[in-house]
Amino acid sequence: MSRFRIAPSILSADFARLGEEVRGVIAAGADLIHFDVMDNHYVPNLTIGPLVCAAIKPHASVPIDVHLMVKPVDRIIADFAKAGADIITFHPEASEHIDRSLALIRDCGCRAGLVFNPATPLAHLDHVMDKLDLILIMSVNPGFGGQAFIPEALNKLGEVRRRIDAYTERSGRTIWLEVDGGVKIDNIAQIARAGADTLVAGSAIFSTSDYAATIGAMRAALAQI
Ligand code: DX5
Ligand code: ZN
Repeated sequence: MSRFRIAPSILSADFARLGEEVRGVIAAGADLIHFDVMDNHYVPNLTIGPLVCAAIKPHASVPIDVHLMVKPVDRIIADFAKAGADIITFHPEASEHIDRSLALIRDCGCRAGLVFNPATPLAHLDHVMDKLDLILIMSVNPGFGGQAFIPEALNKLGEVRRRIDAYTERSGRTIWLEVDGGVKIDNIAQIARAGADTLVAGSAIFSTSDYAATIGAMRAALAQI
């Protein structure tokens, strides 16, 4: 099994055929389904919620990775857990009590993660490493698919990779490092080399007609590392 995970973001899927799209990317080799939740408040766009998560769950034979771009966070966590979320991540700016929100996610039986916008400093990691299963670095400003990768994210990934490796050395516990935004066939190797092990890609996959060929090309690029 590859040490890298590819997580298609269904934000760029055909919402009229969502179950089929989910099955399609899983058959094509997806390791996770990335599920973008936007509330037109924390981010300037409105997408999908727990009802849609529950609707795709029977089609998803891989974990569902729910990326919450909503404020407030806490009230919606249990709803997503009930709807079949496996991983739930949120932005520190969107929660008044980050440690409590992380604990809530785990109490609901899900894996928990924090998401860092391009300009958000990493200080929020300092006291919660034990409560994290995943750290998500945004390489675009959240709200829309199809934006260009912000190169500074490479430096940030490197910094988080160092923190995770030091933490793993101390604790024996692994934390996934995910990246989200502007990931394509031609930059995925560079991004993974910077430290990411879990790669979200929306438009790069769903804008193509042959998902297996696209995910295969991403895996081939990752295999060079
Ligand atoms: C942006 C979302 C991303 C987005 C990625 O706010 O969190 O998951 O769908 O889309 P691409 O891969 O097209 O940049
Ligand atoms: Zn996302």
